[in-house]
Amino acid sequence: MAVGILGAGNIGQAIATQMLRAGEEVVIANSRGPETLGEVIEKLGPGASAATFAEVPTCDIVAVAIPWDHIPGALEGLPEWNGRIVIDANNAVTQPDFKAADLGGRSSSEVFADFVPGARVVKTANILLASVLAADPVVDSGRRVLFMSGDDAGAKDAVGGLFATAGFRMIDLGPLENGRLHQVPGAPLARSLIATD
Ligand SMILES: NC(=O)c1ccc[n+]([C@@H]2O[C@H](COP(=O)([O-])OP(=O)(O)OC[C@H]3O[C@@H](n4cnc5c(N)ncnc54)[C@H](OP(=O)(O)O)[C@@H]3O)[C@@H](O)[C@H]2O)c1
Repeated sequence: MAVGILGAGNIGQAIATQMLRAGEEVVIANSRGPETLGEVIEKLGPGASAATFAEVPTCDIVAVAIPWDHIPGALEGLPEWNGRIVIDANNAVTQPDFKAADLGGRSSSEVFADFVPGARVVKTANILLASVLAADPVVDSGRRVLFMSGDDAGAKDAVGGLFATAGFRMIDLGPLENGRLHQVPGAPLARSLIATD
């Protein structure tokens, strides 16, 4: 089954590119409907298709790449998640002032998880600029590092396996609470690294 992507902007397209590189099909959606995604689908190439926002959550793995303030509204009323895997690639930054959102002391992915009840959330793909995330992860005799965190080992295996197949070096930082170690802004590991092992 295809990997679903909610949000077809910079990061949504970058994740789509890497899932295609990993040999998966992708189904991608934005707020305006699949008929507005023709250019994006053409750019992504074979294996990519557009869908409505409500159709994407039927995929077993769904990435969410939406500006933080818009996430609650965008995800409200979607079908039940029923244990499906959700990738949180988002950074808790408010717009248009680009300030850190008030998370009440929780990691941003713990807050995010409340918006996808019943999903197995994996935080990853949030620390690289979209243009870097979309590029070939094999560079300078090494592989770009993506950190991930999540409470479900099977979900991390599935998501980590896809990004590793695309070429990334995945580093598991433990439970979703540890998402605070690689969240933007401000976390110690929220930086671009290349691994040579
Ligand atoms: N840009 C980066 O380099 C970067 C790096 C790391 C992490 N991130 C994080 O990734 C997330 C996405 O950032 P981005 O740069 O990809 O944003 P973006 O280019 O502005 O794209 C946002 C996407 O979300 C959709 N969207 C917005 N509001 C929506 C709503 N209410 N309902 C449904 N869809 C909605 C938009 O749909 P329309 O196209 O129809 O408006 C668009 O497809 C953010 O949380 C950001 O912090 C970004």
